[in-house]
Amino acid sequence: MENEANESLFTIFNPTQNDPRVAGVTTNGVANTNIVWHGGKLLALAESNAPFELDPISLESKGSWNFDDKLQGPMTAHPKIDPETGEMLFFGYNARGIISEKMSFHVADKEGNLTRSEFFDAPYAAMVHDFIATKDHVIFPIMPLTGSMDRAMRGAPVYAWEPDKGSYIGIMPRSGTAENIRWFKGDPAYVFHFMNAHTDGDAVICDVCEYDEAPFFPHADGSKPNPLKSRAKLKRWTFDLSGTTDDYIVEILDDSISEFPRLDDRFAGLKYRHGYFACNTLSDPVGRGYNALAHNRSQYRRNKAL
Ligand SMILES: [Fe+2]
Repeated sequence: MENEANESLFTIFNPTQNDPRVAGVTTNGVANTNIVWHGGKLLALAESNAPFELDPISLESKGSWNFDDKLQGPMTAHPKIDPETGEMLFFGYNARGIISEKMSFHVADKEGNLTRSEFFDAPYAAMVHDFIATKDHVIFPIMPLTGSMDRAMRGAPVYAWEPDKGSYIGIMPRSGTAENIRWFKGDPAYVFHFMNAHTDGDAVICDVCEYDEAPFFPHADGSKPNPLKSRAKLKRWTFDLSGTTDDYIVEILDDSISEFPRLDDRFAGLKYRHGYFACNTLSDPVGRGYNALAHNRSQYRRNKAL
């Protein structure tokens, strides 16, 4: 339908904002965010739906793929593939339909069979674009870009910035279940994308591109985001699993404005040395344009506070 119209007709998050020409048309999602090759399947992903399978040779559409009817709900566009086991780990938010705090966690084995699915409640309904995993832990970031159907019913945005809710970072042992998630609490901030994470003894260390305030989305009162806060920097979160408090340490690793962090996937979830990201070196950067690629060489020192 979009090809015929020669323009975009469907929105990603809110079908009520679709073009009137496609009102009432249900889809398998826009599948426009990421591509993953796993278990012999080429999957196009968007976080609002199950994967959409493509033929890896012709790129023809094969249709929605829900792991032989085992996957319930949507799948993040940023699954993580364990370089040692070949497993694909992923989650979904709004996991039981419409806007809610219901989340899911899934594992597909290296052949692509869905072997684990569980559901849990986040502290509040949020947009959760990405997550990160280590060899031993899964980290779920619930940060205050909140979803609210009540707000949508009043004609306000479905998703908006609500810093008063703070940030909750859930850490689950991969050997445990969602009942074992431990929630750490931090200042309001937002992360679209994670570089990598690893477990070091009792510490979980995550390298993230963190914004002071979620970009793109309005504040809950309808006001616009502050452009000076809508710039991410590469930061390191350190969680002390042996500690008794629910806080965590945040350090800035690089002063560049950064996004789209990547690493050599053979080190996903493990200690790594080299990371890359898009950055903005302009003296007065506005908007979210990027004009350079940066290379970050990670340095590891045990944080003195631990
Ligand atoms: Fe993304």
